[in-house]
Amino acid sequence: MTTVKWNADLYDGKHGFVAARGGEALDLLDAQPGERVLDVGSGTGDHVAALRARGVDAIGVDASPEMVARAREKYPDHPFEVADVCALDYHAEFDAVFSNATLHWVTDQVAATESIARALRPGGRFVTEFGGHGNIAKIEVGVGLTRVGLDISSTGRRWYFPTIGEYAFLLEDRGELQVDAAWLFDRPTPLEGPDGLANWVRMFYSDLIAEVPDQAAFFAKLEETMRRSLYRDGRWWIDYRRIRVHATKPVF
Ligand code: BEZ
Repeated sequence: MTTVKWNADLYDGKHGFVAARGGEALDLLDAQPGERVLDVGSGTGDHVAALRARGVDAIGVDASPEMVARAREKYPDHPFEVADVCALDYHAEFDAVFSNATLHWVTDQVAATESIARALRPGGRFVTEFGGHGNIAKIEVGVGLTRVGLDISSTGRRWYFPTIGEYAFLLEDRGELQVDAAWLFDRPTPLEGPDGLANWVRMFYSDLIAEVPDQAAFFAKLEETMRRSLYRDGRWWIDYRRIRVHATKPVF
């Protein structure tokens, strides 16, 4: 998995839209009171809290201890654990697994699929939304083009942004899950404030940016390069593209 030291303050503040934007996927999950639901990549806990407020027996897991600590602080009565999606220790015990804005970070997608499918009871459903094919393509090109001390090739394949065909094949290949429906759609998302683009790039390309000798020149050039495609109505926008999938674990 690409290493990002998650900053829970930024996630809840400037990047709070990460959780807020999972609402439609949560609607697709359609969790019922009393159902057991696992939220994989639960971040600072808002989806678990929303589910539990509706009487759903939801628990959250996240690979980041910082995120889990913040979730426990915000929601001390709700269950959150640190866990790797590729090695979940759950066996046929959930009615549904939900995951928002997480799976594009996972490098071993086969292990993640196996682990999620194992956690579901037969007939259980898996609903996920994350970066799909073409996600942040403009940013990727812009960061690459802004060559102020940066090696373009190092920006490649940091994340997993599949097409519908690729991801459906992955889920169904070993018979673990059956895809019921899938969507791929643009979700341009506004960034906060005049430094929105710089803040986003600083957070998610932190390892590369650390190597840039003249940070001010880098961000000035980046903003100049991206202004035409990512700045409108007086704000910066990020070119998110989402894949959303509803799948079911077969009953044999
Ligand atoms: C995303 O949510 O699509 C995303 C977030 C951070 C880095 C790359 C993609």
